Formats: sequence, structure tokens, C-alpha cells
Amino acid sequence: MRFDTRAVHVGNEPDELTGAVTPPIYTSSTFAQAGIGKTKGYEYSRTGNPTRGRLERAVADLEGGRYGLAFASGLAAETAVAGLLHKGDHAIICNDVYGGTFRLFNRVFRNYGVSFDRVDATKPENLVRAIKPKTKMVWMESPTNPLMLVLDIRKIAKVSKRHGLTLTVDNTFASPCLQNPLQLGATIVVHSTTKYIGGHSDLVGGALVTSSKELFEELKFLQNATGSVPGPFDCYLALRGLRTIHLRMQRHSVNASAVAEALSSDTRRVKDVYYPFLRRSPSYKLAKSQMSAGGGMLAFRMKGGYAAASKFLEALKLFTLGESLGGVESLAEHPARMTHSSLPPEERKRLGITDDLIRLSVGVEDTEDLVDDVTGALKAALHRSF
Ligand SMILES: Cc1ncc(COP(=O)(O)O)c(C=O)c1O
Repeated sequence: MRFDTRAVHVGNEPDELTGAVTPPIYTSSTFAQAGIGKTKGYEYSRTGNPTRGRLERAVADLEGGRYGLAFASGLAAETAVAGLLHKGDHAIICNDVYGGTFRLFNRVFRNYGVSFDRVDATKPENLVRAIKPKTKMVWMESPTNPLMLVLDIRKIAKVSKRHGLTLTVDNTFASPCLQNPLQLGATIVVHSTTKYIGGHSDLVGGALVTSSKELFEELKFLQNATGSVPGPFDCYLALRGLRTIHLRMQRHSVNASAVAEALSSDTRRVKDVYYPFLRRSPSYKLAKSQMSAGGGMLAFRMKGGYAAASKFLEALKLFTLGESLGGVESLAEHPARMTHSSLPPEERKRLGITDDLIRLSVGVEDTEDLVDDVTGALKAALHRSF
């Protein structure tokens, strides 16, 4: 079956007991045993829950992997992956990852004796240079957050494989619909299901997918041992979101392309636009080689610095000023002062997350309405200068 059919059906098969076409939500924390240890596959919902099991199967299938695990948040999923590292181990973290990922390594796992280095992985040779005897993992995102940099997953996977390193790819921005890192050579895929998988800004969740049985067993152990599991209602919402992911991602991509074009044509007010499928973008060819469409995320720099950026954000009528992304509704935010404020100021500067930068999560509303909103807010923010 092709992706769109699997999105509708896998994990959402009718209930075996009643035939219910929409699968039930199993809220039970515990399961009756016919005799000691005689279960129907479930004993306690932290260890395994039928609704969670459906979600885990669906995400694994859509990523083209063998095993899936669902978590209470994207960061809970990341914590399990980082938990594969032991005292003395070293990780390579590509520049421009989600601020919370940096914080997790910098302020939590560093205290457990795990060290890491940041690397500009646009050149894979930088990666080779950063490898130390105790390096175990490479961690990357593509497209990156918030600058939408596209990294060559195939090349990074090749280097990782050659040096026996686990390659973890955070695929939250692209979603399983537009990019499948396992097929490009990654070992583990991470998702914040809060974003495109849920798709409606009404849940917080995370997921991991791998095809390695050994890693799956270790991660499954960590999921149960640390107890970072999602509740069945959130699993149900994520499963329901998945049923329309192909339709949503298509529309997100059409709308974001149109907004990116409109922004980049206003050269008097806009400095740079970062969107992987913008034809003028230096990463367009690479993006096309590993993604099937550009997705709904973009960023841009305004002329006029912070004053203009904040005016723009206040002048928007349809885009809501708010953190997060990936929902059907359009959101706008200021990375330096919102999503990436947890990064130290010098780190933000080094990465180009400056006060003139704005990030948009383009929703699935009418394309022209969104373009009108953005162009109207640009004019309102910088009308006096022209
Ligand atoms: C790319 C990316 N990865 C991971 C996360 C963390 O996910 P969560 O907020 O569900 O913990 C986020 C959150 O914004 C994100 O943008």
C-alpha cells in the first residue's frame, strides 16, 4: 500500500471485538490476568497500552521502520534516545537543532557525564573532524529549526555508519509524509508528535522509530523504566491526526511556498527568506533529493530589525503569535525571544538567530488569505520608510 492509504488505515483498523470502525480508547491502567502471568498481551499501561500500541505501529509504518515507541512529549522521546549514552560517551550535535535538544544535552546529560560538540554539518567533513574515541551518536535535524537549513542525510548517514555511530534524525519539521530518514540511512527517527503528526495543536507527544531490534529493546526498556509514556487520549488524537497527514502536508506545502514567494519578492522590506523548496534557495536541489515537498515551515529576516519584526508580528490578523508549529492554523513567532530563548545569547548569535528573524508555521487556510495577511503586515510594519 502507498503512503496515503497506510496513513488512513495502519493503526486504525476496525476494533476486533466490536467491529467499531473508529478504534476505542483503552483508558484502563491495568489488565485482568487469567492466571499469574496469563495475559492477553497487556498487563499495565505504562508497559503497554492497546491505544498506544496502535499509534506506535502507525508511526513506525509511515516512517518505513520496524519498531515504533510513543512518548509523553518530543523531549521525552529525545530523553530516551540520549539515555542510550553512558557516562564518558560523546555525541555530535549538528548546529541549529531545536533549542530544547541543546538544553537537554547541555544542562541534563552533561551532568550525567555525557559530553557533546556542536558541528556545522553542512560540510560532512566537519563531522569526521569532530569524532572522538568515545563518540557514539550523531544528532541532526533537517530542515533545521528555525533557519530551515537542509542537511544531507544520506552523506551524514554514510559518515556515521563508517564510524559505527548511531545517527538520530529529528524529523519533526518534515513529518513522515515528506521525508523518511531511515530510508536515507538514519538509525533512529525522533518526532515531536505535538506538531504535524497530531496536526491540530491539541496534544503534546513524541515518538521514536527504528529498524534495529537491539536499539528498540533498549529504548523500550528506557520508556518503561523512566515512565515517560503518553496517555491513551493523546495517543488517540495523534492516531486521528495521522489519518489526514497526507492531505494536510500537501496544503501546508502549497501555502508555505506561496508565502515564501510573496516574502522574497518584497525585497524592500525582507532581507532573506529560508524555505527549502524556494527555487532560489541554495539547498533546493538537496531538499528535492530527500523531501517530496517543502512543508509548512519557513523563516525570514526583516529589514528594520527588532522594531520592524515586532510590529509585523502584532500587525498579523490571521497568523496567531504563538510558539509551536505544525497545526492546521497558521502561527508566527520570534525565535530569539520565544522558542530559542533557552539558548545562551552567544550561541544564538553564532547560529544567526537574531532579532530580525521571524518564523512562520503556515497552516492550511486559504492560500490567498495567508499571503494577504503577510503582505499586509509587512506594509504595516515598515510603511513609513517608503
Ligand atoms: C524540531 C523539534 N523537535 C523536538 C521538539 C520537542 O517536542 P515537544 O515540545 O513535544 O517536547 C520540538 C518542539 O518544538 C521541535 O520543534
